[in-house]
Amino acid sequence: MNAIEVKNLSLHYGSFQALKNVNVQFQEKMITALIGPSGCGKSTLLRCLNRMNDLIEGVKITGVVNFRDINIYAPGTDVVELRRHVGMVFQRPNPFPLSVFDNVAYGLRVHQEMKKIQLSAIVERSLQATGLWDDLKDKLSETATELPLYQQQLLCITRLIAIEPKVILMDEPCSALDPIATAKIEELMLELKKKYTIVIVTHNMQQAARVSDYSGFMLMGELIEFNKTGRIFTNPDDKRTQDYITGRFG
Ligand SMILES: Nc1ncnc2c1ncn2[C@@H]1O[C@H](COP(=O)(O)OP(=O)(O)OP(=O)(O)O)[C@@H](O)[C@H]1O
Ligand SMILES: [Mg+2]
Repeated sequence: MNAIEVKNLSLHYGSFQALKNVNVQFQEKMITALIGPSGCGKSTLLRCLNRMNDLIEGVKITGVVNFRDINIYAPGTDVVELRRHVGMVFQRPNPFPLSVFDNVAYGLRVHQEMKKIQLSAIVERSLQATGLWDDLKDKLSETATELPLYQQQLLCITRLIAIEPKVILMDEPCSALDPIATAKIEELMLELKKKYTIVIVTHNMQQAARVSDYSGFMLMGELIEFNKTGRIFTNPDDKRTQDYITGRFG
């Protein structure tokens, strides 16, 4: 089953074409990695999946992105509601300058009215799910921005899963983290995919090979090749994919 289907997607920043007729399907409860050299359009494609490019001036987008069989670019789409279901984790952790508790509770408060006790239960359950509960249960009122970086990133993931999205988009979520923290996030991703669909952009080939089920290789705005990760990394169809994964460029 598809979680998201992209059809004939093109994107221009002004006169520069950053995405060229991209077609791809992101499978439900799978991890899909987007790889390719710097500037090839990975983040642009990722941001298209929950309409994060809308705010950039001079952007023109054509094509279709279906989420639950509805084109999110059709007029009348509720973008706030869309982002509730398709959330994003960024390269630099960006918790709100609020307490740990309020960070996790933020989306819950935005989207529905809830009793304090109910809220507390969801905050605890969400922190449990990302493995932060034991470390942070006595620090719920501390300011999130003062936590170590890897806890901040885990907290950003916690903040998303508190509202139970369908899809989690991750744009190089480990690039600011050390190898130990990176391993923790990868472990968490494998756990989260039981419930969520994940699309990750990464420069780390080992990471893509370790965590993802499917991989897409991009080059200059084109999706060159998309396949099962094992296939992409052992026996790709396209010579350009082969050159990239063997480190010949990028
Ligand atoms: N807001 C913008 N305005 C104009 N051009 C942009 C904008 N954002 C990205 N671009 C250009 O679009 C192309 C694709 O950028 P994008 O950030 O999607 O690449 P990327 O594959 O994520 O690269 P990296 O690996 O360095 O993060 C690049 O040439 C970039 O310079
Ligand atoms: Mg990028």
